[in-house]
Amino acid sequence: MSCEALLTTLNRPIVLIGLMGAGKTTIGKKLAQRLSLPFVDSDIEIEQTAGCSITDIFEQYGESEFRRIERCVIRRLIGEKPLILATGGGAFIDSETRAYLKEKAITIWLHCPLDLLLERVENRTHRPLLNIGDKRAILFSLMQTRYPIYAEADLMVQCQKVKIEESIEQVLKTLQKANLMQTLTVNLSQTEYKVLIGYDLLEQAGNLLTPILKQKYVVIIADETVAKLHLERLRKSLDAASIHSEIFLIPPGENSKSFYEYERLTKAILEKGIERQTAIIAFGGGVTGDLSGFIASTLLRGIPFIQIPTTLLSQVDSSVGGKTAINTPSGKNLLGSFYQPKLVIADTTSLDTLPDRELRAGYAEILKASLIDDPDFFDWCEQYGEKVIARDPKYLTEAIKLACAFKTRIIKNDEYEQNSKGRNLLNLGHSLGHALEAELNYDGTLLHGEAVALGCRLIFKLCVQLGLCPQQDLDRLTNHLKAVGLPAFISDLPKALSVSRLMMHLHHDKKLVDGKITFILVNGIGKAFTSRNISDNQIIALLENEGCIQP
Ligand SMILES: NC(=O)c1ccc[n+]([C@@H]2O[C@H](COP(=O)([O-])OP(=O)(O)OC[C@H]3O[C@@H](n4cnc5c(N)ncnc54)[C@H](O)[C@@H]3O)[C@@H](O)[C@H]2O)c1
Ligand SMILES: [Zn+2]
Repeated sequence: MSCEALLTTLNRPIVLIGLMGAGKTTIGKKLAQRLSLPFVDSDIEIEQTAGCSITDIFEQYGESEFRRIERCVIRRLIGEKPLILATGGGAFIDSETRAYLKEKAITIWLHCPLDLLLERVENRTHRPLLNIGDKRAILFSLMQTRYPIYAEADLMVQCQKVKIEESIEQVLKTLQKANLMQTLTVNLSQTEYKVLIGYDLLEQAGNLLTPILKQKYVVIIADETVAKLHLERLRKSLDAASIHSEIFLIPPGENSKSFYEYERLTKAILEKGIERQTAIIAFGGGVTGDLSGFIASTLLRGIPFIQIPTTLLSQVDSSVGGKTAINTPSGKNLLGSFYQPKLVIADTTSLDTLPDRELRAGYAEILKASLIDDPDFFDWCEQYGEKVIARDPKYLTEAIKLACAFKTRIIKNDEYEQNSKGRNLLNLGHSLGHALEAELNYDGTLLHGEAVALGCRLIFKLCVQLGLCPQQDLDRLTNHLKAVGLPAFISDLPKALSVSRLMMHLHHDKKLVDGKITFILVNGIGKAFTSRNISDNQIIALLENEGCIQP
């Protein structure tokens, strides 16, 4: 994106914040040149307005008067025209100025290591706060008190000891990424939360979390594989925002949604000591999200919960909606709760390391969503699905947003799955899908999303046979499954499946009502509905027709 395009879409003043020596003026001036915007330094404006130096204002009138003048000057500057504004180190600490800047501007925190700050301020004498003692000790103490507040800035750029040009490139890159971030709000009867979707959001996690955390201490439950690949990025960003984190790892795989892991983790977390305001962060796929959510909902009768999903499936489906669960010997997801997160951060960059098969399985849930009530969404999938599978960031972000927006719309009307036209519909393809998964023992032969893809096509086929759905819609679905490399036929599976065993699994599903299976049927693409009128014989005939063997 060009600088001009970036500015048009940002359309707000850019305000640089940070400690003295962070480079606000130097970076600000060069940034202004690059973006063809005026540059203003609020400290210089204050001196001009007051007609004396900042040191004099401090000495004669005290800090509170200085902050009052600063507030007025910043308001005037922000209100006038687009600009780059460098602010004094204490400006953002003032709660009124901070609230105003957060509302009207894009705030960027230039985060610098202590040694670099010290090197830069060594010879400065015009800083009243620095002239009263040992500079290192003063800066260190300012970092302790101010960094947690700077972390409320919209964006943070780590300015290491690099050439100024490199820092400017970093600021521009951060602005561009932020500009591409998509935000969705999930409004429910009792709560509201945001789903943030975009690139490199892990690097901004500290800033994104700061406004919603009531305590600067979090417990991260992370999938071991994900921790190896991405935890460092998350940790760094939390550290920079002075958020202390305690890490608990879980082995990858469905087996972690177990009584064993639930007990092990809850005990370990309680031993570490937590309070009602300590938040739990789930960092991994749907397994981590479901287990961590259940832990968060039960620890101390419920502590804040945050989802940082790292698989496509969890970004488009499991992280939104508040269903949490572990598995029991009687079946999958039988022990759980409805417990909404406070924030969902879906960083598409974390998907770079996701195996292709997992990515496709996640896409299957997007496709399922498109089949339920929005034919235009399915058209979009037909047109761009292959780009999503090719990990084109633009289409990946768009697909996640479409799927989350769809899910938000459904759950809003049916938070607790009590309405036959609500959340139930999200189970399209799932009853048959779960039966296939159960028959293959969740051993990795068939991923959940792959099972859903097969299940959806089986439902379309059943509905064509029942005269409910046009053949053409089944053909479109089958062709699209093939185009994106998802399994379309039971015969694609590596082993022959038994009709009677699949029927047994179907009857085991927790979605039985009065012993009858609830199916989500379709009148075509985007026209799903609930039915309890499908007989076993109709399913048996369907499965036989698909090549399953008797008994
Ligand atoms: N709560 C809900 O509403 C809901 C909805 C759908 C599914 N689910 C649940 O979600 C689970 C499936 O979720 P899933 O498909 O995300 O599985 P998962 O959490 O097991 O992750 C799949 C695999 O990908 C690995 N992985 C995760 N992120 C990675 C990354 N960025 N790079 C490399 N590898 C990575 C994991 O280690 C794991 O091996 C099931 O337990 C299902 O019941 C819940
Ligand atoms: Zn699913």
